[in-house]
Order: sequence, then structure tokens, then C-alpha cells
Amino acid sequence: MQIYKVGGAVRDRLLGRPVTDIDWVVVGATAEQMQSLGYRPVGADFPVFLHPKSGEEYALARTERKSGRGYGGFVFHASPDVTLEQDLIRRDLTINAMAEDEQGRLTDPYHGQDDLCARILRHVSPAFAEDPLRVLRVARFAARYAGLGFTVATETLDLMRQLSESGELQALTPERSWKEIARALMEDQPQVFVQVLRDCGALKELLPEVDALFDVPQPDAGTHTLSVLEQAARHQQPLSVRWACLLHGLGKGQTPPQQLIKTVNERFKVPRDCQELALLVGQYLTHAQRALELEASTLLELLQSFDVYRRPQRFEEFIAACEMDARARQGQEECSYPQGDYLRGAAETARAVAVQPLIEQGIKGKELGEALKAERLKALQTYKGS
Ligand code: CTP
Repeated sequence: MQIYKVGGAVRDRLLGRPVTDIDWVVVGATAEQMQSLGYRPVGADFPVFLHPKSGEEYALARTERKSGRGYGGFVFHASPDVTLEQDLIRRDLTINAMAEDEQGRLTDPYHGQDDLCARILRHVSPAFAEDPLRVLRVARFAARYAGLGFTVATETLDLMRQLSESGELQALTPERSWKEIARALMEDQPQVFVQVLRDCGALKELLPEVDALFDVPQPDAGTHTLSVLEQAARHQQPLSVRWACLLHGLGKGQTPPQQLIKTVNERFKVPRDCQELALLVGQYLTHAQRALELEASTLLELLQSFDVYRRPQRFEEFIAACEMDARARQGQEECSYPQGDYLRGAAETARAVAVQPLIEQGIKGKELGEALKAERLKALQTYKGS
């Protein structure tokens, strides 16, 4: 049996990037042999094992064919006669289809190293089409390596377009799609992910609401969304903020923005914190941009909607998303965002109103809530006047 390091670990070492996890491929072995050596099988029908000590993934060399539509419809053929070249040809990109043996010797039958040098993301073979998730993966790699000058090969973009137009992307599970989207949004240049998806027609399939931003009558809304995402990455914002940035401009047309954001959130079963923030940013972004002009009562309504008393972190993320929007509009890196500090000051003012004196006056129940609100309003009026 021969064991090779494969995929991302080989690619990233050659690129001089940190290697986080290592995948291995085992040629010339059977599942029984692996188990007798102490490797633990990952699943009953899947020829992947975990190393008894390191926990790293060891997959038997395999060929795979698609047996039906969607994910899960794969037939694996893993046997000791499957060669390393046969295993590598079913992989997504040439730069991911290289292997390294224990002596560090490279096997690169599909010229991944040439494509690494030329900075090209190119599919290995027509087998690319067997997993539609690869459309998202390529866009994600483009977002990650854009800074190094990588672009998608024309023929790969054509194949991605065919896959998008075939309707295959609709068969992806929400969980698989979201995992890719979330990873892509956290890359260095998430705007490239969106742009590549648009270039191959996948954005229209996955996020038609975002795709529509690029169409008339709002020719700038799509480009603006890309700039906001770029700012969010430049300022190392968390996933919730990046997701809110992606969706912040939805629905300037007939459908209410909240409805569109809710639909997208549900489509990918987005985690609750991301869902909430996207909805709040969609609803209150214009308030934040006009913060200094808001009436004290509107300011209070905003703070109450965010429950800034118990959820200060969410309010901070809201301010961050609004700041990214403002920075993208101003197009200046060093611009200030006075609305941010103003909103923080307002939240502090409202939070500082003590409830104890009201209780001591004998106010309770529903009246206590009303009295507290009235006190907060007074404090905000003073804050606004100061
Ligand atoms: N692979 C593939 N098609 C997929 C998923 C994975 O061909 N849909 C192959 C690629 O060869 C890939 C390897 O399996 O390099 C390992 O996959 P994974 O761990 O998901 O990705 P990495 O390439 O290691 O990249 P990352 O740095 O994003 O983890």
C-alpha cells in the first residue's frame, strides 16, 4: 500500500500558505486492511478512514460516478486496483489534484503546478460536473486566492455556466450550500465569490434577489454590494456582518426588503445570529445613516428594537455593517463614521437610566415599563441637545 498527501495540503504548501488540515489517499489497500491497522471507518459505505492517532482523513483511492440527481447520488468504486491517477482525475481543480509521497515527491498528472504558477483555477476533467457544489467551491477559491492573482479558466467558467443553467444547483442541500457560502464570505475577497457566481450564471440560481441588484433600474446596487463586502473583509468583520452586508440592499423594487431577506435566510437555513442581523440591517440601515438627525423618539424605538440593554454585541455588529455601507459609498478608506459613536453614545445613555428609583416610587408591572421608556426618552432628548 502507498500513502500520499493530497488536495489542499499539497496546494497550500506549494503556494507557501499555512496548511491547516491534511487529507491522505491510500492506493493498493482494502477496507479490511485499513481496519486491521487500526484506522476507523467514517461511515459504512464511504471508503474514508480516520487515523487512529492523528484523526486525519485517509481515503482509499477511488473512482466515482454520479448515479442520480443531487448530492448523495454517487456510486463509489474503491478497490486496490484503482490508481493514483484515476483517483486524481475525478477531483475538482488541477491545483487540487496533486499528490505527494512520503519522500515529498510530487505526482501531478494534470499539470496543477503549471496552473499554480499561471494562477489559474481550471477543472481537471468533465467529471467536475458530477458535483454541482464545485461551482461554489471554485468561486470560493477565487475569493481566497484573488489577492495572489488567480482567475477562473474560461473553459471552467463555461462548464460552471452549463451546470448553473441545467438547474443542478437547485439539488444542493441548504446545509452544503450554506457551508460554502459562509466559508466564501470569510475569505479575503468575498466580493470575488459573488462576482464569479454572477459571471457563470449561478448567482441567478442561488441568490436571484442579489443577482437582481445588478440589473436595471438600479445599475449601481450590485456593484455597491460588492464594495460593501470588500470593506467588510478589509475590516475583518465576522460572518454575521458579512452576511448582512451581502443582503443589505435587497428589495428596492416591489417586494418588501424584509420579505426577501427572510426568504433568503430560510433558503439556506442560515444560523439565527446571521438571520437576525441581516433583517435588522435591512430594516434600520437608513436610520443609522441619518442617526444624527433622528428624533429622540425614533432613536429610542431603534434602541428598543435592538434590545440594546441585553444584546449590546448585536448592536455593535449592526453599527459595523452600516459603517461598511457608508465606507463603500464614500469610497475613502480613512473616512470617519460619526454615526457609529453617536449611536453608541445613545445606547449608553438609554442603558444608564436606572430602574431602581422608579421601583422605589412604587411603580410596577406594565407601568414600570412605560415609566422606564419615558425616562429613557428624556435622557435621549438631553443627549441629542448636548
Ligand atoms: N474535492 C473535490 N470535490 C469536492 C470536494 C473535494 O474534488 N466537491 C477534492 C479536492 O481534491 C480537494 C480535496 O478533495 O482538494 C479535499 O477537499 P476539502 O478538504 O474540502 O478542500 P481543500 O482542497 O483541502 O480546501 P480547503 O483549504 O478549502 O479545505
